[in-house]
Amino acid sequence: MSKKLADGRVLLVASPKGGVGKSSLCRNILVAAAMAGLRVRGVDLDAQQTLVKWHQRRELVRKTYPETPEVPVVGMALSEWRGPLREAGLFDLTVVDTPPSIEAQYSAAIDLCEAAHHVLVPTGATQDDVDSVTPWMQTLAGAGVSASFVLNKANRRVKSYESVRTKLLKAGALCPVEIPMLEDIHVSAGKGLAVLDLSNKKTAETFDALWAYVARAVGIQPAKIAEPVA
Ligand SMILES: Nc1ncnc2c1ncn2[C@@H]1O[C@H](COP(=O)(O)OP(=O)(O)O)[C@@H](O)[C@H]1O
Ligand SMILES: [Mg+2]
Repeated sequence: MSKKLADGRVLLVASPKGGVGKSSLCRNILVAAAMAGLRVRGVDLDAQQTLVKWHQRRELVRKTYPETPEVPVVGMALSEWRGPLREAGLFDLTVVDTPPSIEAQYSAAIDLCEAAHHVLVPTGATQDDVDSVTPWMQTLAGAGVSASFVLNKANRRVKSYESVRTKLLKAGALCPVEIPMLEDIHVSAGKGLAVLDLSNKKTAETFDALWAYVARAVGIQPAKIAEPVA
C-alpha cells in the first residue's frame, strides 16, 4: 500500500426513494475502489443497516477466501454523520450510504451533502422517479453541491426510457454509465460480494466504467483510478 497520505475523498449516495439502488451502488463502488488498491471505508447511515449486514457476510467469505478485498463498513445513526467524516482523511475514499427520504431531515441532509465531494443520486427510469429526484437535485444545486444522477435498473428497450432520460438531463448532470437490471447485483450482494468479485466480464465492464466516473467526480488522483482486477 502506498505510503502517501490518503486522498480523503467522500462520496455520498443519496436519493429520496427507497429501493433505487443506493446500497447496491455503494457496495459495488467500494469493491471497485478496493480492487484499485485504495483504502476505502463504507459508512452506513440507514437504520436498516443494509451495508453493515453485507459487510458481515463479506467478512465470513474472507475467512475462506482471504484474497477477497477487504471493505470495512461502520454503521451509525444519521445524526452521527460528522464522526466518520472527520475520519475521512484516514482513507482514500469514504462511501456513505443513506436512508430513504433523507431530504425530510433537511438541515442534516444538506450539511452532509455539503461535506461530500460528490453526491450520487440513483434513480429508476419512471416518471415517479423523475418526480421524486428532480426537486432533490434542485435542492443540491441550490446548495452548490456537486451531484449527478445515475440511472439504475435501466431498460433502454422500453418506450419511456428516452423521455425519462431527457427529463433527468434537464434536471441535472447524468452519469454516462447506466446500470441495467442485473441478476449479478442481488446474487452477489446476498453472498457479501459485489459484481466485480464475480467473474462475469460483461457486467464487470459496467462497474469498471461507473468506478472511473465516480473516481473522477470525487477527485481521486488519476494515477489511483487503476483498472480493477476482476
Ligand atoms: N441494477 C439492478 N439490477 C437488479 N437488481 C437490483 C439493481 N439495483 C438494485 N437491485 C436490487 O433492488 C433492491 C433494492 O436495492 P437497494 O440497493 O437495496 O436500494 P436502496 O438502498 O436504494 O433502498 C435490492 O434487492 C437490490 O439487490
Ligand atoms: Mg439502502
